[in-house]
Amino acid sequence: MVELDLVVKNGTVVTAADEFVADVGVYDGKVASIASDVSAGPDTQVVEAKGNYVFPGGIDVHVHFQLPFSGTVSADDFENGTKAAACGGVTTVLDFAIQTKGSSIMDAVEARRAEADPKVCIDYGLHAAITDWNAQTQAEIRQVIDYGIPTFKMFMIYKDEGWMADDGMLFSALEETAKLGGHIGVHAESVFVLDMLVERYAQEKEKWGAYAHTLSRPCYTEEEAVIRAIKWAEATGGQLYIVHMSTGEAAEAVHAAKERGVRVFAETCPQYLLLDDEVFKGENGHLYATCPQIKKPHDSERLWQGLFNGDVQIVATDTCTFTTEQKAAWNGDFRKIPFGMPGVETMVPLMYTEGVGKRGLAVNQLVTLTSTNPAKLFGMYPEKGTIAVGSDADLVVFDPKKKVTLRASDLQTNCDWSPFEGWKLVGYPSVTISRGRVVAKDGKFVGDVGHGRFLKRRPFGKL
Ligand code: URP
Ligand code: ZN
Ligand code: ZN
Repeated sequence: MVELDLVVKNGTVVTAADEFVADVGVYDGKVASIASDVSAGPDTQVVEAKGNYVFPGGIDVHVHFQLPFSGTVSADDFENGTKAAACGGVTTVLDFAIQTKGSSIMDAVEARRAEADPKVCIDYGLHAAITDWNAQTQAEIRQVIDYGIPTFKMFMIYKDEGWMADDGMLFSALEETAKLGGHIGVHAESVFVLDMLVERYAQEKEKWGAYAHTLSRPCYTEEEAVIRAIKWAEATGGQLYIVHMSTGEAAEAVHAAKERGVRVFAETCPQYLLLDDEVFKGENGHLYATCPQIKKPHDSERLWQGLFNGDVQIVATDTCTFTTEQKAAWNGDFRKIPFGMPGVETMVPLMYTEGVGKRGLAVNQLVTLTSTNPAKLFGMYPEKGTIAVGSDADLVVFDPKKKVTLRASDLQTNCDWSPFEGWKLVGYPSVTISRGRVVAKDGKFVGDVGHGRFLKRRPFGKL
């Protein structure tokens, strides 16, 4: 019998469906055995996990590493961003290749791979963001899916960046991907009303400071755009994925659409579940500006309800890190804040403390939301998203008793502030394993740059 490379001993293995004490044996990057006593050879690395959970690695399907945006570039690049992910128990990330108007989607994909491939420390994939719909784009959809990118993104805002997709483009892309098994993720906000309100509040920007960011993006601007995107999915039969959903109203719209049989799924993020728009009133309120912005406590409550009842199927982070220095570009004008915040490193422990610890979310459900559903919907299951013989050995040994006070200065991210600074967590990853290699221990990265691989994903992802 071959000697195993690694054994995780005596942990409580948690999948979407099960929870049991077992050893997990790893060979050649894959799970080779799950049993009550897996024997380790003289050269086998042993990770003791008694009293700890063993989760499938977290999957964050929404990150923006080294994204050129708002006149700057997000501060966690593919190297540091994937190191931060590993430190927080995430073993797979999906980032975005954003088409440049007038160029092909594949040009954007190849450019993004050239940036990412040499740097990534865990496995990663890309969504293709469509910004230009024409005969060439339409013809390219099949090629992009065949290449291993079955998930597309369309922004219903961001005119100035040249990223915005109008309704005709969204409709056409849903129609095309419906035939080929792809899906369309949307950033859903009502651009025209929103732009008008932004200019209105800009007249009084000294009065409102960063709080104008929230005043100018009322909940109905998300609700309306979500309903509109759902309508196009319903009309075309396309599969729709609402990214970073932030309002209770949008959760209601998704719920109603699902009842009607529309193929719509939704993601929310820890910032929408755990923070509210009072943050914009503080001295450093501008740091929290993200897009869509953080809403009211009743929105958070409805989103939590959605996680429990299945209206919201995935938790991701929309990581788009900007340091205090980068955020200072706002200089009192809320229109100039680079939108985005760090998150991939704290997603799993925050969701454990706040979801499992405080709200009674089952550990299986935590795994479902942060690993299994992302793997299934995004065409990576069962290689990713579960612990089973033959799956990739992406594992997180999670200590449910470990107490950590979050401090930006202790985290791997290049961000010098944290939206959750000083939050007291109970439960934290102690060891993260990516395809059989230990890549992080006690919140510190110990892996290798370039260990990560580009993931070729499959179409027809569903739950
Ligand atoms: O504020 C955010 N979310 N920045 C990144 C771009 C986006 O909209 O996802
Ligand atoms: Zn967005
Ligand atoms: Zn985003």
